[in-house]
Amino acid sequence: MKVLFVLLLTAAAADCQSFHRGRCPQPPVQENFNVTKYMGTWYEIEKLPAMFEKGKCNQATYSLLEDGTVKVRNAELLSNGKISSIEGVATVKNSSQPAILDVSFFKGVPGAPYWVLSTDYHSYALVYSCSDYFGLFHVDFAWILARPRVLTEDVISQLHDKLDAAGVNIKRLLVSDQTGCDVMT
Ligand SMILES: *[C@@H]1O[C@H](CO)[C@@H](O)[C@H](O)[C@H]1NC(C)=O
Ligand SMILES: *[C@@H]1O[C@H](CO)[C@@H](O)[C@H](O)[C@H]1NC(C)=O
Repeated sequence: MKVLFVLLLTAAAADCQSFHRGRCPQPPVQENFNVTKYMGTWYEIEKLPAMFEKGKCNQATYSLLEDGTVKVRNAELLSNGKISSIEGVATVKNSSQPAILDVSFFKGVPGAPYWVLSTDYHSYALVYSCSDYFGLFHVDFAWILARPRVLTEDVISQLHDKLDAAGVNIKRLLVSDQTGCDVMT
């Protein structure tokens, strides 16, 4: 447990401090979330730094599976010109909280929370992921996603306000590079 703790701290430190004291915030999620409308491709506009994303043109494609779970395919363009992708499964754990999903990319490894804080389904989505560790600290990630590769400053600013209200330091957000992505489509 101590080793894990140190590893996580090191990872978090290397990752521009996405770890914080105390427990995860519990921000409100999108009301009446309709997962069907959420399916399809979303492009990453901004994010809290995540170690596991190194390229550009980051995108996520969601598709409903017959058992009601969601297939997730994340893809990005690496600096060597290769497309890197990973597939996972997202599941709603509690049907009365449909905007709270759990995404797992590796069998047997616990999934990560995936909270849809806000979406209009056709232009923007705000996703938050926070994990508690031993009740002592938490590590969080956030993504502003859009259907086209751009989003208006107005909308971005509204989503910043929501993240801010959730206690996220929006100064840590990085703007994603969505230029030169033709090879992705
Ligand atoms: C969810 O969206 C789909 C596609 O637009 C629609 O057919 C379905 O009725 C919606 N479900 C609810 C519960 O509104
Ligand atoms: C599911 O969510 C509802 C509403 O938030 C809550 O009351 C209920 O306890 C949850 N069920 C489980 C199994 O967590």
